[in-house]
Amino acid sequence: MKFGYFDDAKREYVITTPRTPYPWINYLGTQGFFSLISNTAGGYCFYKDARLRRITRYRYNNVPIDMGGRYFYINDNGTIWNPGWSPVKTELDSYECRHGMGYTIITGKKDGLKAEVTFFVPQNYDGEVQQVVLTNESSKEKTFKLFSFAEWCLWDAQDDCTNFQRNFSTGRVEVKDSVIYHKTEYRDRRNHYAFYSVNDTIDGYDTDRDSFIGLYNGFNNPEAVLNGKATNSFADGWSPIASHYKEITLAPGETKTLVFILGYVEMPVDEKFEADGKTINKVKALEMIEKYNTPEKVQAGLAELKAAWDKLLGILSVETPNDKVDRMVNIWNQYQCMVTFNLSRSASYFESGIGRGMGFRDSNQDILGFVHQIPDRARERIIDIASTQLQDGGCYHQYQPLTKKGNADIGGDFSDDPLWMILSVSAYIKETGDWSILDEMVPYDNDMSVAETMLKHLDVSFYHIVNNLGPHGLPLAMRADWNDCINLSCYSDTPGESFQTYTNPKFKAEGGYSKIAESIFVATLFTYTGPNYVEILKHLGKTAEAEKAQQAIDKMKENVMKYAFDGDWFLRAYDATGAKMGSKECEEGKIFIEPQGFAVMSEIGKDQGADIKTLNSIDKYLNTKFGLVLNNPCFTKYYIQYGEISTYPGGYKENAGIFTHNNAWIICAEAYAGRGDKAFEYYSKIAPAFTEETSDIHKTEPYVYGQMIGGKDAGSDVGQTGKNFGQGKNSWLTGTAAWNMVAISQYILGIKPEFDGLMVDPSIPQEWDGFKATRQFRGATYNITINNPKHVCKGVVEMTVDGNKVNGNIIPVLAAGTHEVIVTLG
Ligand code: BGC
Ligand code: NOJ
Repeated sequence: MKFGYFDDAKREYVITTPRTPYPWINYLGTQGFFSLISNTAGGYCFYKDARLRRITRYRYNNVPIDMGGRYFYINDNGTIWNPGWSPVKTELDSYECRHGMGYTIITGKKDGLKAEVTFFVPQNYDGEVQQVVLTNESSKEKTFKLFSFAEWCLWDAQDDCTNFQRNFSTGRVEVKDSVIYHKTEYRDRRNHYAFYSVNDTIDGYDTDRDSFIGLYNGFNNPEAVLNGKATNSFADGWSPIASHYKEITLAPGETKTLVFILGYVEMPVDEKFEADGKTINKVKALEMIEKYNTPEKVQAGLAELKAAWDKLLGILSVETPNDKVDRMVNIWNQYQCMVTFNLSRSASYFESGIGRGMGFRDSNQDILGFVHQIPDRARERIIDIASTQLQDGGCYHQYQPLTKKGNADIGGDFSDDPLWMILSVSAYIKETGDWSILDEMVPYDNDMSVAETMLKHLDVSFYHIVNNLGPHGLPLAMRADWNDCINLSCYSDTPGESFQTYTNPKFKAEGGYSKIAESIFVATLFTYTGPNYVEILKHLGKTAEAEKAQQAIDKMKENVMKYAFDGDWFLRAYDATGAKMGSKECEEGKIFIEPQGFAVMSEIGKDQGADIKTLNSIDKYLNTKFGLVLNNPCFTKYYIQYGEISTYPGGYKENAGIFTHNNAWIICAEAYAGRGDKAFEYYSKIAPAFTEETSDIHKTEPYVYGQMIGGKDAGSDVGQTGKNFGQGKNSWLTGTAAWNMVAISQYILGIKPEFDGLMVDPSIPQEWDGFKATRQFRGATYNITINNPKHVCKGVVEMTVDGNKVNGNIIPVLAAGTHEVIVTLG
């Protein structure tokens, strides 16, 4: 069942009922000011950091769901409704929500009155613009009342939802003309305030929540709205809000447009106040308001936003025989990559914005899907991340975007972290040809006095793996690897201990974690990633170092084949007792997905057929109609030696859920091995545009990936096996976005930046006659046509560039301008 449809021409998903199976959200803003907005206008905004600089309040895990947002209430002679249906939930005569690239338009109609609200964050602007267009579509004059509503968060979102003994006394506002200013703590240490304005006179306002809503009422029936009149309340502690009130009369056919702005302002310390030393200096806010105070200016802002997205999405676009592929590649997958790049895993409807900052592993991976869009920002991000690295190559697992400092609470020793940086830096150089990033002086642990070049950071990353091997010469597993829930040094038997940060004291003497437990995943990630480092060294003429690194890679491959090939697939790990994990010998969890794809792409044991055996085993044991499960059979009890993974009921999350992130690694591996049909089968099982038809089962947004889909075992724990099979969770902020972008564009469609040029090596479904792509790359535009006359999956037999035959399948870097590339498969 569907709850809307794709409007590809406008690059929008159009939701046609407010009763989606879960709130379906969008993100506004790409620079400093961000908003989350659901299809019923729920959500919140923040500046840069969803924890430390939260602007409006939101209630996670609320009953009913999705409470808190920017709400417009209409009281039309006693009929009270919202254009987005919620929170009043009066049945509307019509409803529509269009989520587009950086904007959302929600339109509701009731009793002949139409309200269309456009929400967006303009380019280079620290505020959310909300344009409300009210049209009287009836044949009679209409007089009604409009109330806006936003609830301020007292800046630190963690503190805001816990520290009530203080917070209920600190909230402060100012009201001047039609602008409500939020200035809690501005008198003392904060040099920022927020405001909510409207470009017209108002008939009243409220700034105190209880006065507006009523202590015993809810968002669905605020007293002021019921009474049809604002109370002009002035907040003094408790919960400050901002609500404008306006009475409006419209003749039949008449339209009124109002522009509201929810903005954020930072002030230099010596300019914070007016002459009285108390009143806030509003100059900057007024300038911001002025910028979008007419519908014409709003239109210009929207046009500018659209132009920015045209540019971003113009860098890569494809025309394949499958419109769902086109929709994903040209629009939604790239859009999601921008969002994950900006927010990492911090703020979504599943991430509260207070739990996690930017992940070292996560943000490096995000670069892979995003780097072609804004390489300059990718460069800056890579340097920010690298600056939190430690001198021995280890890494803080997370950092806060506002301070850019490593997060000591979670600490380090996640065994895979350093490798992702080799991958992101390589991806950056391959995209841009900008080798100068390697010369950049980058601090360790943010300490510039111990800065070394980015190249050196890659070196310590690489050798952090090589220098930390276990008994089989395989990388130590440490606290966890990619799978945060395989915690082989944890042995936790006390509720509340964090599997990610708790290490059993028995490993203290060994230096903090087991020196026996080894990760085969990290081994194969190393053999997949390492060759990039070798190529970099070769490019720089560092032959001896390149050879040394290559030897380490070869040795690792040898050890993997010797100690970690289980006959038909690769083991997952050796646990802290030295026992195999992910082996035929195991009772449960016999096969895991994670190491397999990178092993295949590293060609480990290829000469012995290990690649095809492995891929066939994945198909046999992990494949389901909704995607590949992470492991099989699922764990049905707690294995203290494995950690968090076995705490999840089977079929969920890391315990045999369908982790779409590492489905992509198998898609890549199948494509790499030349099995384009299989690659495409796996791709289409999880790509949102393909799952749209089953939105009732899938539950989360059909235009973006989620982290996890319930696996075949979901529900088995409660005797209802398969109950939630296919049900998505954790939408939006996941490495799935970047990796599936890589899988479809670089492995299936095969357009892959390399150090020396743009490689074209598709691995597509046999039935395709070919496809077309446009790719901007290092200053030139390539129009690529792929012909598949013999209906093969893979194999470039001929390539011409501007009519000239090229050896191999790498388009060399050419001068600016447009080049025609014709590729024949056979
Ligand atoms: C979750 C993982 C997540 C990790 C992050 C775990 O509890 O299950 O999916 O990556 O926390 O800290
Ligand atoms: C989510 C985390 O953000 C990611 O880093 C991790 O790899 C997966 N969970 C798997 O545990």
